[in-house]
Amino acid sequence: MTPPKKLSPIFAGNWKMNHSVADALDFFSKSPKTPTENKCVLFVSALLLTDDVIAAARLKGFELGVQNVHWEEKGAFTGELSARLVVERGLNWCLLGHSERRQYFGESDESASRRLSRAVSTGLNTVYCIGETLAQREAGQTFQVIERQVASFWSTFQTLAASDAKLPTIAVAYEPVWAIGTGKTATSAQAEEVHQFIRSKTSIDLPILYGGSVTAENAAELISMPNINGVLVGGASLKAESFSKIFDIR
Ligand code: PGA
Repeated sequence: MTPPKKLSPIFAGNWKMNHSVADALDFFSKSPKTPTENKCVLFVSALLLTDDVIAAARLKGFELGVQNVHWEEKGAFTGELSARLVVERGLNWCLLGHSERRQYFGESDESASRRLSRAVSTGLNTVYCIGETLAQREAGQTFQVIERQVASFWSTFQTLAASDAKLPTIAVAYEPVWAIGTGKTATSAQAEEVHQFIRSKTSIDLPILYGGSVTAENAAELISMPNINGVLVGGASLKAESFSKIFDIR
């Protein structure tokens, strides 16, 4: 398959349930401005999104997003977050289907795809996560698992694309579960092999990010691979010193 034209890279950080408002303000005060040619997005807890945090993020060129949204616009769904409120807050990104949602909160391909429909039709740019567990990789099921996850994503994507509305940015993040928070990054060749497979099942224009123990030491090599269009960073996105070394790659 012909390698795709290189898309502009996306550097996404996933703060999970970590920073307080004070930590976030400290992060933005220490962070350099993001390079204009790189898109830098941070996925944060909804209650971190105070006016001060939003203003501090914008000053440094970061876009902000939430870590999940519900598939309905509103209703009796205690504890869930409406995409409409994210847009009302002036934000335009969300993360969906993260492996921690799948592992601890019963997220499935089906529910993640429903959330994707709502997010995108509400106008949110979305990073949709997929990835195999260690047991699945060791059992030789990586491509089978990825194929199933991508099929669910891609059928929803195509339904959305068939509508007349202009689509926001939709990206896939390949995050092998065994590489998340473990310090065990997939090698660039291992990641590229799966990215190429995802590409073959989707489109040349789809940004595909890699996530799982990305650090300042391995980010440049990962990003240099033809089918890796950015990174989704957990631990190393918490400190401005480490995240800036990652997003400053040019
Ligand atoms: P990590 O997390 O970089 O700490 O491995 C990545 C993620 O969960 O998105």
